[in-house]
Amino acid sequence: MNILDSIKNELRKAVTKPKHRFRYFSMATCGIHGHVRQRMLVLRDVADDFTLTAYTDSRSKKMTHLRENSEVSLLFFNPSKFIQITMTARVQVDNNEETILNLWNRIKPRSRKDYITELPPGTMIQDPSEIEHQDNIHYFTVLRLIPEKIEYVKLQKINHLRILFCREDHTWSSTYLVP
Ligand SMILES: Cc1cc2nc3c(=O)[nH]c(=O)nc-3n(C[C@H](O)[C@H](O)[C@H](O)COP(=O)(O)O)c2cc1C
Repeated sequence: MNILDSIKNELRKAVTKPKHRFRYFSMATCGIHGHVRQRMLVLRDVADDFTLTAYTDSRSKKMTHLRENSEVSLLFFNPSKFIQITMTARVQVDNNEETILNLWNRIKPRSRKDYITELPPGTMIQDPSEIEHQDNIHYFTVLRLIPEKIEYVKLQKINHLRILFCREDHTWSSTYLVP
Protein backbone atom coordinates (compact mmCIF):
# COMPACT_ATOMS: atom_id res chain seq x y z
CA MET A 1 0.00 0.00 0.00
CA ASN A 2 1.38 3.46 -0.78
CA ILE A 3 1.82 6.06 1.93
CA LEU A 4 -1.11 8.23 0.82
CA ASP A 5 -3.47 5.25 1.11
CA SER A 6 -2.05 4.37 4.50
CA ILE A 7 -2.60 7.98 5.66
CA LYS A 8 -6.23 7.72 4.55
CA ASN A 9 -6.59 4.36 6.32
CA GLU A 10 -5.16 5.72 9.57
CA LEU A 11 -7.41 8.79 9.45
CA ARG A 12 -10.42 6.54 8.86
CA LYS A 13 -9.53 4.45 11.89
CA ALA A 14 -9.49 7.67 13.93
CA VAL A 15 -13.09 8.41 12.97
CA THR A 16 -14.32 5.28 14.74
CA LYS A 17 -11.69 4.82 17.47
CA PRO A 18 -12.05 7.43 20.24
CA LYS A 19 -8.49 6.93 21.48
CA HIS A 20 -6.80 7.15 18.09
CA ARG A 21 -4.15 9.89 18.00
CA PHE A 22 -5.54 11.39 14.78
CA ARG A 23 -9.09 11.76 16.12
CA TYR A 24 -8.44 15.33 17.23
CA PHE A 25 -6.69 17.75 14.91
CA SER A 26 -5.87 21.43 14.83
CA MET A 27 -7.42 23.70 12.21
CA ALA A 28 -5.82 27.10 11.71
CA THR A 29 -7.76 29.87 9.95
CA CYS A 30 -6.70 33.30 8.81
CA GLY A 31 -9.28 36.10 8.77
CA ILE A 32 -9.43 39.03 6.41
CA HIS A 33 -7.13 41.21 8.52
CA GLY A 34 -4.49 38.48 8.74
CA HIS A 35 -5.48 37.37 12.25
CA VAL A 36 -4.53 33.72 12.65
CA ARG A 37 -6.46 31.44 14.98
CA GLN A 38 -6.39 27.70 15.60
CA ARG A 39 -8.52 25.21 17.47
CA MET A 40 -8.97 21.47 17.92
CA LEU A 41 -11.73 19.64 16.06
CA VAL A 42 -12.99 16.06 16.03
CA LEU A 43 -12.48 14.17 12.77
CA ARG A 44 -15.95 12.88 11.76
CA ASP A 45 -15.41 11.36 8.33
CA VAL A 46 -12.83 10.76 5.60
CA ALA A 47 -14.20 10.32 2.08
CA ASP A 48 -12.52 8.38 -0.75
CA ASP A 49 -11.35 11.64 -2.34
CA PHE A 50 -9.83 12.70 1.01
CA THR A 51 -12.56 15.21 1.89
CA LEU A 52 -12.58 15.42 5.69
CA THR A 53 -15.67 16.26 7.72
CA ALA A 54 -15.93 18.21 10.96
CA TYR A 55 -18.89 19.64 12.87
CA THR A 56 -19.22 23.06 14.47
CA ASP A 57 -21.60 25.81 15.60
CA SER A 58 -22.52 28.26 12.83
CA ARG A 59 -22.07 31.18 15.27
CA SER A 60 -18.44 30.36 16.16
CA LYS A 61 -15.52 32.61 15.28
CA LYS A 62 -14.07 30.05 12.88
CA MET A 63 -17.16 30.54 10.67
CA THR A 64 -16.42 34.27 10.41
CA HIS A 65 -12.85 33.45 9.43
CA LEU A 66 -13.98 30.83 6.90
CA ARG A 67 -16.35 33.28 5.23
CA GLU A 68 -13.43 35.69 4.87
CA ASN A 69 -10.89 33.08 3.77
CA SER A 70 -11.77 29.47 3.08
CA GLU A 71 -8.16 28.24 3.11
CA VAL A 72 -7.14 26.44 6.30
CA SER A 73 -4.12 24.58 7.62
CA LEU A 74 -4.72 21.26 9.40
CA LEU A 75 -2.37 19.46 11.76
CA PHE A 76 -2.50 15.85 12.93
CA PHE A 77 0.16 14.41 15.25
CA ASN A 78 0.87 10.92 16.50
CA PRO A 79 3.48 11.27 19.29
CA SER A 80 3.93 7.52 19.75
CA LYS A 81 4.91 7.01 16.09
CA PHE A 82 6.55 10.43 15.59
CA ILE A 83 4.28 11.14 12.65
CA GLN A 84 3.07 14.61 11.67
CA ILE A 85 0.52 15.17 8.93
CA THR A 86 -0.22 18.69 7.76
CA MET A 87 -2.71 19.70 5.10
CA THR A 88 -3.65 22.83 3.22
CA ALA A 89 -7.38 22.59 2.57
CA ARG A 90 -10.35 24.57 1.27
CA VAL A 91 -13.45 24.50 3.44
CA GLN A 92 -16.99 24.26 2.15
CA VAL A 93 -20.03 24.46 4.40
CA ASP A 94 -22.41 21.62 3.52
CA ASN A 95 -25.78 23.21 2.77
CA ASN A 96 -27.66 20.03 1.87
CA GLU A 97 -30.56 20.08 4.34
CA GLU A 98 -31.23 16.35 4.05
CA THR A 99 -27.57 15.47 4.75
CA ILE A 100 -27.48 17.81 7.74
CA LEU A 101 -30.71 16.43 9.16
CA ASN A 102 -29.44 12.85 8.77
CA LEU A 103 -26.20 13.66 10.60
CA TRP A 104 -28.02 15.69 13.27
CA ASN A 105 -30.35 12.77 13.95
CA ARG A 106 -27.34 10.51 14.52
CA ILE A 107 -25.85 12.76 17.21
CA LYS A 108 -26.47 11.65 20.80
CA PRO A 109 -28.72 14.03 22.76
CA ARG A 110 -25.85 14.66 25.21
CA SER A 111 -23.61 15.83 22.36
CA ARG A 112 -26.32 17.94 20.74
CA LYS A 113 -25.86 20.40 23.60
CA ASP A 114 -22.73 21.68 21.89
CA TYR A 115 -24.83 23.14 19.07
CA ILE A 116 -27.84 24.52 20.93
CA THR A 117 -26.49 26.95 23.54
CA GLU A 118 -28.64 30.03 23.99
CA LEU A 119 -25.62 32.33 23.88
CA PRO A 120 -23.19 32.01 20.94
CA PRO A 121 -19.81 30.30 21.48
CA GLY A 122 -17.25 32.76 22.83
CA THR A 123 -19.76 34.91 24.77
CA MET A 124 -18.45 36.08 28.17
CA ILE A 125 -20.29 34.53 31.14
CA GLN A 126 -19.91 34.68 34.94
CA ASP A 127 -20.10 30.92 35.53
CA PRO A 128 -20.19 27.76 33.33
CA SER A 129 -23.36 26.63 35.13
CA GLU A 130 -25.20 29.60 33.58
CA ILE A 131 -25.26 28.00 30.14
CA GLU A 132 -28.81 27.55 28.86
CA HIS A 133 -29.88 25.34 25.95
CA GLN A 134 -32.64 25.74 23.41
CA ASP A 135 -34.95 22.98 22.21
CA ASN A 136 -36.42 24.54 19.11
CA ILE A 137 -33.34 25.62 17.18
CA HIS A 138 -29.81 24.38 16.50
CA TYR A 139 -26.66 25.83 14.95
CA PHE A 140 -25.20 22.50 13.86
CA THR A 141 -22.90 23.01 10.87
CA VAL A 142 -21.10 20.46 8.73
CA LEU A 143 -17.70 21.49 7.36
CA ARG A 144 -16.14 19.71 4.38
CA LEU A 145 -12.38 20.15 4.35
CA ILE A 146 -10.94 19.49 0.89
CA PRO A 147 -7.16 19.03 1.04
CA GLU A 148 -5.05 20.44 -1.79
CA LYS A 149 -1.70 19.52 -0.27
CA ILE A 150 -0.83 16.84 2.26
CA GLU A 151 2.56 16.64 3.89
CA TYR A 152 3.74 13.59 5.80
CA VAL A 153 6.69 13.70 8.18
CA LYS A 154 8.00 10.70 10.11
CA LEU A 155 10.97 11.03 12.41
CA GLN A 156 13.13 7.92 12.35
CA LYS A 157 16.51 6.94 13.76
CA ILE A 158 17.97 6.73 10.25
CA ASN A 159 16.65 8.96 7.46
CA HIS A 160 13.66 10.97 8.58
CA LEU A 161 10.91 10.84 5.98
CA ARG A 162 9.12 13.87 4.53
CA ILE A 163 6.76 13.52 1.58
CA LEU A 164 4.61 16.15 -0.11
CA PHE A 165 1.42 15.10 -1.93
CA CYS A 166 -0.30 17.63 -4.23
CA ARG A 167 -3.77 17.19 -5.67
CA GLU A 168 -3.84 17.32 -9.48
CA ASP A 169 -7.50 17.07 -10.56
CA HIS A 170 -8.37 13.48 -9.60
CA THR A 171 -4.88 12.20 -8.85
CA TRP A 172 -2.11 13.08 -6.44
CA SER A 173 1.52 13.76 -7.27
CA SER A 174 4.16 13.07 -4.66
CA THR A 175 7.74 14.03 -3.97
CA TYR A 176 10.23 13.50 -1.17
CA LEU A 177 11.42 16.65 0.61
CA VAL A 178 14.43 17.32 2.78
CA PRO A 179 13.00 16.75 6.27
C1 LIG B 1 -10.48 17.81 22.23
C2 LIG B 1 -11.32 18.93 21.66
C3 LIG B 1 -12.17 18.66 20.59
C4 LIG B 1 -12.96 19.67 20.05
N1 LIG B 1 -13.77 19.40 18.99
C5 LIG B 1 -14.50 20.39 18.42
C6 LIG B 1 -15.29 20.15 17.26
O1 LIG B 1 -15.36 19.03 16.73
N2 LIG B 1 -15.98 21.19 16.74
C7 LIG B 1 -15.92 22.45 17.28
O2 LIG B 1 -16.56 23.36 16.74
N3 LIG B 1 -15.18 22.72 18.36
C8 LIG B 1 -14.47 21.71 18.95
N4 LIG B 1 -13.71 21.98 20.06
C9 LIG B 1 -13.66 23.35 20.59
C10 LIG B 1 -12.74 24.17 19.70
O3 LIG B 1 -11.40 23.76 19.88
C11 LIG B 1 -12.89 25.69 19.89
O4 LIG B 1 -12.60 26.03 21.22
C12 LIG B 1 -14.30 26.15 19.53
O5 LIG B 1 -14.78 25.49 18.38
C13 LIG B 1 -14.31 27.66 19.29
O6 LIG B 1 -13.41 27.97 18.27
P1 LIG B 1 -13.49 29.32 17.43
O7 LIG B 1 -13.88 30.39 18.42
O8 LIG B 1 -12.13 29.54 16.88
O9 LIG B 1 -14.52 29.14 16.37
C14 LIG B 1 -12.90 20.98 20.60
C15 LIG B 1 -12.05 21.24 21.68
C16 LIG B 1 -11.28 20.23 22.21
C17 LIG B 1 -10.38 20.54 23.38
